[in-house]
Amino acid sequence: MIGDVSGRPGRKILTEHLPDIVRETGADFTVANLENASGGNGITEKNLKALLNLPIDAVTMGNHVWGQKETIAYIDRYPMMVRPANYPDSAPGRGWTYFEKNGKRICVLNLSGQVYMNNMDSPFPILDSIITELVENCDILLVDFHAEATSEKLACGYYLEGTAAAVVGTHTHVQTADNRVLPGGTAYITDLGMTGPLNGILGVRKNIILETMVTKLPKRYEIELERPWQFNGVLIDIDDETNKAVRIDRIYRIYE
Ligand SMILES: [Fe+2]
Ligand SMILES: [Fe+2]
Repeated sequence: MIGDVSGRPGRKILTEHLPDIVRETGADFTVANLENASGGNGITEKNLKALLNLPIDAVTMGNHVWGQKETIAYIDRYPMMVRPANYPDSAPGRGWTYFEKNGKRICVLNLSGQVYMNNMDSPFPILDSIITELVENCDILLVDFHAEATSEKLACGYYLEGTAAAVVGTHTHVQTADNRVLPGGTAYITDLGMTGPLNGILGVRKNIILETMVTKLPKRYEIELERPWQFNGVLIDIDDETNKAVRIDRIYRIYE
């Protein structure tokens, strides 16, 4: 599972290195969070199509899902793409989706937290209303929990302990060191981190963020394009018989 892919640097890292990373790790199924893949804000259909030529099985999103206006029109044509399930039923796209790979039925669910996240409904009643259906229809449930607060992410991990094979956090763009398998067999990490530029601030050119923080005046965000770049994600090992996680390792690579 790959942390928020940011801008052109993020896309180029995947193009140049993802096939090797998948080969080296032996990953059977790859999930990438692409909410920042086009200029840091959502993803265009052109960029999505190009990235889907890589070994990416499922695409998750987050609060930036509608950052590119065209996404509203195209999202229903991409069944491998999920956006937070917190949106009302009338919203385009889907909150979860099913795959078949290597004889396993895999469900990928995208959910947004509520703490410090704009007007999102609480994820927990949403989980209550869908979890039976999800569990009945898959062997392996993978959850991308897109949220700000560490406590809410860990709470979601425990809420799904023993039910999901993995609950991984995204959104903060900073990889956390708390990767572990919860006792019930759920792989957990508070945040996967970001795949994009290393020397910006969460992917944005640092001088822009510094200026807005010092002056308190708004400024247009631009992705830092200079190298070095970073690849952030995790490799999760799931037992073939129990469908529970047995291991979760962080991947953190710097490309000069
Ligand atoms: Fe993000
Ligand atoms: Fe986000």
